[in-house]
Amino acid sequence: MTTVQSLDIHRGAAKQRMADNGTPQKPVVIFMPSGRRGRTAPGTPLLDAARDAGVEIESICGGRIVCGKCKVRIEDGHFSKHNITSSKANVTPVGADEAAYLEEHGLDGYRLSCACRVTGDVLVSVPEESQARKQVVRKRAEERAIELDPAVRQHYVEIAPPLLEAPRGDWERLQDALAEQWDLHDLTLDPTLLRDLQSRLRDGKWNATVTLWHNREVLDVRPGYAEGAYGLAVDIGSTTIAGHLVDLRTGAILATESMMNPQVTYGEDLMSRVSYAMEHDDGLNVMHRAVIKALNTLAGRAVAQAGLKISDVYEAVLVGNTVMHHILLGIDPVELGNAPFALAIEDALDVKARDLGLRLNTAANVHVLPLVAGHVGADNVGVFLAEAPHQQDVLELIIDIGTNGEILLGNREQVLSASSPTGPAFEGAQISHGMRAAPGAIERVRIDPDTREPRFKIIGDERWSNEWPADGAGEGVRASGICGSGIIEAVAELYLAGIIRADGRIDPANEHPRVVREGRRASYLLATAEETSTGQPIFVTQLDVRNIQLGKAALYAGAKLLMNRMGVEQVERIKLAGAFGSYISPLHAMVLGMIPNCPLGDVYAVGNAAGDGARIALLNVARRAEAPQNARWIKYVETAVEPEFQQEFVAAMHLPHMSDPFPALADVLPEPVSDSRPSRRR
Ligand code: FES
Repeated sequence: MTTVQSLDIHRGAAKQRMADNGTPQKPVVIFMPSGRRGRTAPGTPLLDAARDAGVEIESICGGRIVCGKCKVRIEDGHFSKHNITSSKANVTPVGADEAAYLEEHGLDGYRLSCACRVTGDVLVSVPEESQARKQVVRKRAEERAIELDPAVRQHYVEIAPPLLEAPRGDWERLQDALAEQWDLHDLTLDPTLLRDLQSRLRDGKWNATVTLWHNREVLDVRPGYAEGAYGLAVDIGSTTIAGHLVDLRTGAILATESMMNPQVTYGEDLMSRVSYAMEHDDGLNVMHRAVIKALNTLAGRAVAQAGLKISDVYEAVLVGNTVMHHILLGIDPVELGNAPFALAIEDALDVKARDLGLRLNTAANVHVLPLVAGHVGADNVGVFLAEAPHQQDVLELIIDIGTNGEILLGNREQVLSASSPTGPAFEGAQISHGMRAAPGAIERVRIDPDTREPRFKIIGDERWSNEWPADGAGEGVRASGICGSGIIEAVAELYLAGIIRADGRIDPANEHPRVVREGRRASYLLATAEETSTGQPIFVTQLDVRNIQLGKAALYAGAKLLMNRMGVEQVERIKLAGAFGSYISPLHAMVLGMIPNCPLGDVYAVGNAAGDGARIALLNVARRAEAPQNARWIKYVETAVEPEFQQEFVAAMHLPHMSDPFPALADVLPEPVSDSRPSRRR
């Protein structure tokens, strides 16, 4: 490694202590916050001393005082805990190039570790942003951090110019530079790069920033120093597509976008998409093109939101259920429609984005996580990566709520998985006033058990509707529909208030003015015309309740099937995952009977765990490499051919359940009465 720093080794060397044998003792260097320490020969660049001590400091430019990623702080004073007296004078002074960089970038108080050499004992603070394998702490306190080690990395190199007397191709000389300066060998080049390689090297005056994938394929060569590599982590759900744009160097989420899956037009659930592919000659292509177009739109929106260009995106990790996976890759999903539900491929895949029609960087890679079985897909593997049930002692039930419910049950002994055909009701579809979680959507509902009058909260307004001014929510925000968390709470509250019975029927004996009947069809008026943006009232209809019952019964039956297989009657912890998972009220989910009994304090939402899993695979190659083993270790239970599933499903149609007890809801649930009409307890 070369540095452009003038040396003043002797000044520091004079201060060295002597060892017992009379030889000068090497200076001690301690790196914080890790506390790692080592002795290093005087004159060693601090960046190298760090590496020798097992501390990885960021460096894109390889010590050329170009990137500034290696900045550290040299501490002054005596640190008795570490038994060291550290001084800024114990490294070589700031040279002209370093001074220019520090001044230009306002890095007062820092040194570039590549530019200063050790002359005496120093205690060095390495800020978070300078740590090469920094940890990205996910939002929830109990979550594990992600160690940053992405497949895409950038290196700055100086390439030897061509010589008449020693002819050698530009690519070959670039390889020489990468081998010499970064110890990178046996590289390949994305062939599309060759068109511009020569001009880019010359534009950079033989300096370039090279983007590599898995340190084996060159994806991009940019003139001069030009850092910036980004990735997309996307969960392709049957109804909703949700993605994060991530900075691959820092792990920061720069933008989050979600949109409806346009394939909904061709069928709302998985089996109807399979049918569409079977029944239409061009069905597969139509759905494939639709999802690719949606992903391009999502990527375009995300980079625009972050102020980047689409060519800055070098990798995408995609997860989805098995049908979404096959259609994404242009594989006919017909075999997934019938037993034995054979997959075309279960292993993880790497394909060029351009081969799928995805518009990212021309050379960008798409990594698709592996599948578990016919109905348990890469999204389930994503949930597994994010929540790691195989590292838990307690028996954990993880339910990923979407149009297809993905269920994991287990701990470090074993993990079972199943998939339940939930239907799209929890995502706001098949609900008469359903909508996606967007401003104006009703997301919280309470119904007074005495007056049976409702109040609700909409996304975009912190107030309950009964606190709104008389002319509506004010500032133009009014209710425009009900999203998934809202409909879950609405149905659960209707049950608790005695408006619907345990069998799900709106009580025919109920004469409340909010209960509106049209012939034999009854509905509950949740928001009046004055409270909505459309001027039309919002109802929860009998059919809505029915669709929610079908969805929740499928989830419960899937979970129960796995519990039966494992021989357990109780789980110790329940995690609710899904694009809107963070917003689901555990209490209402249990009142509805979406989930089995569990102490309420041990039921919590974990957000879009499948998308988090995709992000983990994007940011850490080791975790990505583990995913195929994880997928093979999970034991799959097929619900579609299981008679027990049907029995459990029928019993789970009741609110919360026909026979299973819910001691955790003892203080909340209505007391059962003989005609299945609840009597109010609260
Ligand atoms: S490694 Fe780039 S400035 Fe030090």
